[in-house]
Amino acid sequence: MTSSGRLSNKGDRPNVTVLGAGTMGSAAVRALLSSGCGVTVWNRSPARVAPLAAVGARAASSIGDALAGPAPDVTLVSVLDYPAVREVLGAAGERLAGRVLVNLTTGSPEQARAMADWAGEREAAYLDGAVMATAAGVGRPKTLFLYSGSRRAWEAALPVLRLLGEPQDLGPDAGRAALFETALLDVMWASLTGWLHGAALVGSEGTTATEFTPLVVRWLEEVSGLLHLYAPQVDQGVYPGTDSTLHLHASAIAHLLEASERRGVDTRLVKLYGELTAAAIRSGHRGDGFASLIEQLRAPGPAHRPE
Ligand SMILES: NC(=O)c1ccc[n+]([C@@H]2O[C@H](COP(=O)([O-])OP(=O)(O)OC[C@H]3O[C@@H](n4cnc5c(N)ncnc54)[C@H](OP(=O)(O)O)[C@@H]3O)[C@@H](O)[C@H]2O)c1
Repeated sequence: MTSSGRLSNKGDRPNVTVLGAGTMGSAAVRALLSSGCGVTVWNRSPARVAPLAAVGARAASSIGDALAGPAPDVTLVSVLDYPAVREVLGAAGERLAGRVLVNLTTGSPEQARAMADWAGEREAAYLDGAVMATAAGVGRPKTLFLYSGSRRAWEAALPVLRLLGEPQDLGPDAGRAALFETALLDVMWASLTGWLHGAALVGSEGTTATEFTPLVVRWLEEVSGLLHLYAPQVDQGVYPGTDSTLHLHASAIAHLLEASERRGVDTRLVKLYGELTAAAIRSGHRGDGFASLIEQLRAPGPAHRPE
């Protein structure tokens, strides 16, 4: 910051206002400052802003102060949840008009869409964002961020978003980033739980998780190949059992169940695999491939794509 209190950005680096200086907001402020941006920051509790002011951010005394004057290139929001976002942005009043808002707060697709409508009514361009990492990853080029919403906001914010990580554009529907975030977390939880269950199984005979894990990482390369093989099958509703049939999977799952039971390892996850597989076989997929389980999982009826 200059002695006059005005922002000092380096060269043509953008000016950014960050509302919320929790763990994530503070990480964004630090990443933007170290890229040479001029950063104004506001937080409900001023104590969290002081360390950021010490490294060059302009500390705003209120939301009105943060959004006073000409619009910065981008206004980032990172607070606890959507009710907090509404509280913070609600206090900005008419100052939202003409601004580019990027909301990194976690929420549901429905909350994101409602927030986009709310921001649109106040003439702000709204982009919803999902941070696919912890705060330590913010500012690293390979850290994945998902965005969706206003095209004007995406184009205007892109130079700033690139300073936070690797931005992936999911299009104009503001709810899509949150939908994809939850789906990716779904994949993460299933993978991590399967790995932990496997670690418990080999651990029952003395192998440590550290010994087991390199083999798991190697195995996940094979599993990635299956995702590419099965994705078009899921889309076309045709599941040729050429690589392996559901019947064979059911038999291997029965072995996993028995091995788990004999060793006193929890069986709830394995029983779920067994239930889904049995249901798919009952509905006629005995000779089909594993991807036929999609019919047990997806919502009935045609897919609905929001406008
Ligand atoms: N931390 C991560 O690794 C991570 C990763 C991905 C996504 N996220 C998401 O990022 C968002 C922020 O997370 P965080 O880790 O920064 O959380 P945090 O450290 O707990 O900070 C929460 C922030 O929200 C503010 N806040 C809460 N209620 C508020 C209200 N009613 N009005 C105004 N401000 C309010 C807090 O202000 P005070 O300081 O005044 O309490 C603080 O700045 C969350 O939606 C989280 O799910 C976080």
